[in-house]
Amino acid sequence: MTGSKRSVIIAVDGPLASGKGTIARALGARFGIPHLDTGSLYRAVAVAMIEKGLPPEDADAAEEAARTLDVTAIDEGKIRTAGAGVAASVVSAHRAVRAALLDVQRTFASQPGGAVLDGRDIGTVICPDAHVKLFVTADEESRAWRRRAELVNRGEDISFEQVLGQLRQRDARDASRADAPMLKADDAIELDTSEMSVDEAVREAIRLVEAKLG
Ligand code: C5P
Repeated sequence: MTGSKRSVIIAVDGPLASGKGTIARALGARFGIPHLDTGSLYRAVAVAMIEKGLPPEDADAAEEAARTLDVTAIDEGKIRTAGAGVAASVVSAHRAVRAALLDVQRTFASQPGGAVLDGRDIGTVICPDAHVKLFVTADEESRAWRRRAELVNRGEDISFEQVLGQLRQRDARDASRADAPMLKADDAIELDTSEMSVDEAVREAIRLVEAKLG
């Protein structure tokens, strides 16, 4: 407790385009706590590698990029491309990259009043003691259509089949890596948004969090 305000940490995990980012942002606004999209950190490391002409498979260079990342200067336009997403799923599998990004995430989570973080390993590794954990899912096709719409809106010329292929590749990589794989925490509440509009998914997430917090 800080003053009259309760400190609440909310962990939102799930695969790409499941709706977890939108839900986490909305939860932050609803409960008046700051939100961190942890995927943006891995994406920013990937962009730093791409800009230096380095392959994302280079673990040492990726570690250096993660250690020297300026989290206040992340360029949204650059990190949201399909290529940055694919490269992010490669750099994020390096143990040293994950270790280098641990402190910034834990520090964010421990601010007075609490925080909401979304990613792949928030409920399992970053904030295992979070007060509420959501694991947001949706079927592959729904996720691929959503992600394609986002990318096309951003001006990328990419087909549904290409997006679906990248999605399967990234899901497989995120779920199978040795260090902090994408995993539903035992105490996480699952929310399947396949058949929900954005508003419905946000409403249901708020309902679940409020019910959990009592
Ligand atoms: O969520 P987003 O698609 O922006 O994440 C990009 C990539 O960053 C993911 O595919 C995943 O490999 C990695 N990531 C991660 N752990 C997190 C958040 C993202 O490994 N907590």
